[in-house]
Amino acid sequence: MKIIHISFHIQEVEDITELTAAERQLIEASQQMVENAYAPYSEFQVGAALLLENGQIIKGSNQENAAYPSGLCAERVAIFSASANYPGVEMKAIAVSAKTVHHQSDQPVSPCGACRQVLLEYEFKQKQPLKMFLVGSSGKIYLVEKVSDLLPLSFTAHELGRL
Ligand code: THU
Repeated sequence: MKIIHISFHIQEVEDITELTAAERQLIEASQQMVENAYAPYSEFQVGAALLLENGQIIKGSNQENAAYPSGLCAERVAIFSASANYPGVEMKAIAVSAKTVHHQSDQPVSPCGACRQVLLEYEFKQKQPLKMFLVGSSGKIYLVEKVSDLLPLSFTAHELGRL
């Protein structure tokens, strides 16, 4: 049996001034969007902000529903909105923040599997990396250079012989 190692690295942002002004603004926007979450069932509030190449910041927050599966994560609210309103405009970075009344976590929030799949779709489509800033409630920030790092052995349009 041959072992195949798959690895990637993330960076922890130690000094926020290392980021560009646009990236800092993006992170702040995601933190503000946490307050717009409609999450009465999980009481887990998530905010997402997506920076486009044209400088626009498209925002989203999680939207829940009494019929639980009908709700949507913050990341998908933001990225679907970006693609719907600004089709073809490159997506440079997404910042995700979260908070919950139920426990204190120092760990940055990490996108669920379905969101990784959806984010990857657009990264694959634009053939340019979509950076991710994952933000913790204590201020800890992880930088992931591209979505595909978080979803190895992914299923994409390539498998379908498309794009
Ligand atoms: N949630 C997000 O918005 N993004 C994620 O990546 C993880 C989970 C939302 C979905 C649901 O409204 C709540 O958090 C609890 O799962």
